[in-house]
Amino acid sequence: MAVVITGIAELTTNDAELGKLRDAAVVLDGDRVAWVGAAADAPAADERVDVEGRAVLPGWVDSHTHLVFAGDRTAEFGARMSGQPYAAGGIAVTVDATRAASDEQLAAGLRKHVDEAVSQGTTYIETKTGYGLTVADELRSATLAGRYADEVTFLGAHLVPPGTDADEYVDLVCGPMLDAVAPHVTWADVFCETGAFDEDQSRAVLTAAGKKGLGLRVHGNQLGPGPGVRLAVEMDAASVDHCTYLTPADVAALADSDTVATLLPACDLSTRQPLPEVRALLDAGVTVALASNCNPGSSYTSSMAFCVTTAVLQMRMTVEEAVRAATLGGAQALRRDDIGVLRPGSRADVHVLNAPSTTHLAYRPGVPLTWAVWRAGARQR
Ligand code: NIG
Repeated sequence: MAVVITGIAELTTNDAELGKLRDAAVVLDGDRVAWVGAAADAPAADERVDVEGRAVLPGWVDSHTHLVFAGDRTAEFGARMSGQPYAAGGIAVTVDATRAASDEQLAAGLRKHVDEAVSQGTTYIETKTGYGLTVADELRSATLAGRYADEVTFLGAHLVPPGTDADEYVDLVCGPMLDAVAPHVTWADVFCETGAFDEDQSRAVLTAAGKKGLGLRVHGNQLGPGPGVRLAVEMDAASVDHCTYLTPADVAALADSDTVATLLPACDLSTRQPLPEVRALLDAGVTVALASNCNPGSSYTSSMAFCVTTAVLQMRMTVEEAVRAATLGGAQALRRDDIGVLRPGSRADVHVLNAPSTTHLAYRPGVPLTWAVWRAGARQR
């Protein structure tokens, strides 16, 4: 069935030729975009939705979340707001709760958080394992995640479980754990950071995952300068995520690579870290993505709009840069060319704002502006 969405005051397509259109229309046919252009030229369709002067953009592409979890870390967050530092070790609290949870509890949490994201305009979502850290628990996390998320990442290398020898654990991740989980995921990731995995351990995990045919991602430079960005570039990872602490050499390496810098501003705020120096990345020509990093420890929000607002108001991105990073940038971080863009043939992922332009995302901070969402052609709200 074809739907024509008309009455669009401002249409952000992210397509180099179409650009930004005024007084526009979009036709969806099944799960694809069939037509984009001036409202006056729109072809007839089975259904007509007049958005009466609202802004339309591609749905958010949230390329970094950790949604397979149980338990709660409110107390840890509260302590942080009173001055306690964030440390990688907090992950172990969620690992204990996740292992203790039933499949039904984990599935209910996944469904709840994905639905919450979609209701706020997210139409494509990646999520990671990483709170299981045994072969059975990582396999369970991956298979459950595959039921709710669009793409799943293996993050067995999230933390060395307390009481475990680090080298033995890396061998487990690179061997039996990867063998079990690889058929259920697209990507592998490693938390390359002090308190998690060092450079050699991270390289071993990425090398083993690459040999299995998985795409690579890295958590890097989150809590301090380190080797994560360099390693991600060396391994041709699709994305290095966090990038809170970058040296000029890191920026230069990214600029000379196909690796996207995925920034997670809600996490930086929630862990009381500085916000990334995005202007240096953009000026150098690095592809930048924005993602929520929704997880119970360092960033418990599914709101991509909040990330965009923060990027504009506090990181000094323009609205156009931030919206692009949260849509097309996320798609590039997942190495996809059919999402994060509205043009004939792309996935019918459409976000209608209750506002005449995307500028309102920053002009009206904190106001829920999602008015309608189509995800792969199916209307969500
Ligand atoms: O991306 N950095 C590592 N992993 C998550 C944090 C997970 C947690 O604290 O539970 C992140 O911030």
